[in-house]
Amino acid sequence: MDRIVIQGGARLEGRIDISGAKNSALKLMAAALLTDEPLVLTRMPRLADSRFLGHLLEKLGVEICEAEPAQLRLHAASIGDTYAPYDLVRKMRASFNVLGPLVAREGHARVSLPGGCAIGARPVDLHLKALKALGAEIEIAEGYVTAKAPSGGLVGAEIDLPFASVGATEHAMLAAALARGETVIENAAREPEIVDLADCLTAMGATIEGAGTSTIRIQGQARLSGVTHKVVADRIETATYALAVAAAGGDTVLEGAVLAHNKALWSSMHEAGVTVEAVDDGVRVARNGSRLDSVDIETQPFPGFPTDAQAQFMALMALANGSSVIRETIFENRFMHAPELARLGADITVHGNEAVVRGVERLRGAPVMATDLRASVSLVIAGLAAEGETVVNRVYHLDRGFERLEAKLSGCGARIERLPDGA
Ligand code: UD1
Repeated sequence: MDRIVIQGGARLEGRIDISGAKNSALKLMAAALLTDEPLVLTRMPRLADSRFLGHLLEKLGVEICEAEPAQLRLHAASIGDTYAPYDLVRKMRASFNVLGPLVAREGHARVSLPGGCAIGARPVDLHLKALKALGAEIEIAEGYVTAKAPSGGLVGAEIDLPFASVGATEHAMLAAALARGETVIENAAREPEIVDLADCLTAMGATIEGAGTSTIRIQGQARLSGVTHKVVADRIETATYALAVAAAGGDTVLEGAVLAHNKALWSSMHEAGVTVEAVDDGVRVARNGSRLDSVDIETQPFPGFPTDAQAQFMALMALANGSSVIRETIFENRFMHAPELARLGADITVHGNEAVVRGVERLRGAPVMATDLRASVSLVIAGLAAEGETVVNRVYHLDRGFERLEAKLSGCGARIERLPDGA
């Protein structure tokens, strides 16, 4: 397995281009199932996760080609198959989002449950609640969900989510876009990726109001058309590089980043002593040599502090002056990076969903193990700020969600390289 080797201590100076958002791109790819015309996605990130989903969509009959770099054309002229097997769904939870579009277009589907995940149980009850509200009959047996639409197809309905789940909101939107009449999603998630999906579905012909607020209204259509859509900038990639600059020191412009998509993070970074400001083509992040202050954070659904940046923020706090309390409220088991950060010298105590990080003056490089996507990149951040050499093992987690990570960082002066298996 590949490893990433970092010689810490270099400042990050220059520019980093921010890719399209992984979490948005995956749901937009599923939207291709809703139309018999081509959907072209631009600023499309090239990631292991989008390849996994591509394999599943191809099995369902979608023709996929990469017309140009960062451009993906998906054409579901007809759906050849409505069965999504375990092997193709288990690798990535977002694959489950094909269920709603398949039922909406074909009237039936059989899709494997996504299964467990390292960061928590992550059930799909809210996804199924939404599809049932639209009239789907759902059966679960032998690890598969079988769903059937009523004879006239899915029907718009009121869907009241007990928790503002991102995945369930998106799944409901995808299915409702081809349902008859109006769907109202109450307590909807408000993440920028929801707005991005709404923009794409609207361009395809659905009428959608309220995306980005807690109430989303969707007028479904009998038919949707193909469009070209630019994927929103990745706010988690933005957060990650911003925190890398803050940890290692430096002055970097994150090109294409949207300031408004990370307000909670920026306010915590300001409080810590980092400069963050909007510039013409993105966001500038700068930190001079002085030591940062500790800041407490609590993860919350958007617009709160994103759970997907919690591990990276912990890496920054490991070097801050004083103690920081980090509370994780979205996932129940999301501190697996803490013992790995401790290998570099971080002083972290975890009690349930709370971690207390006592800042130390310096971290020292060490071999560490990536445990999940965001946890792995927190180790990279810590390695960039540490003295000496850090080796991050099991980097396939990073490849799921970060495009050209080493190239983007080394372009700004980081000493980071990938060593292939055996090297
Ligand atoms: C998405 C993101 C993930 C991010 C998360 C929260 C993608 C591909 N992934 O995940 O990176 O960390 O949003 O911002 O977009 N839940 C239920 N039942 C359900 C659905 C969710 O109990 O049917 C629970 C989950 O277990 C979790 C919480 O709700 O504890 C948040 O999940 P959700 O908002 O749905 O996140 P995902 O869509 O899985």
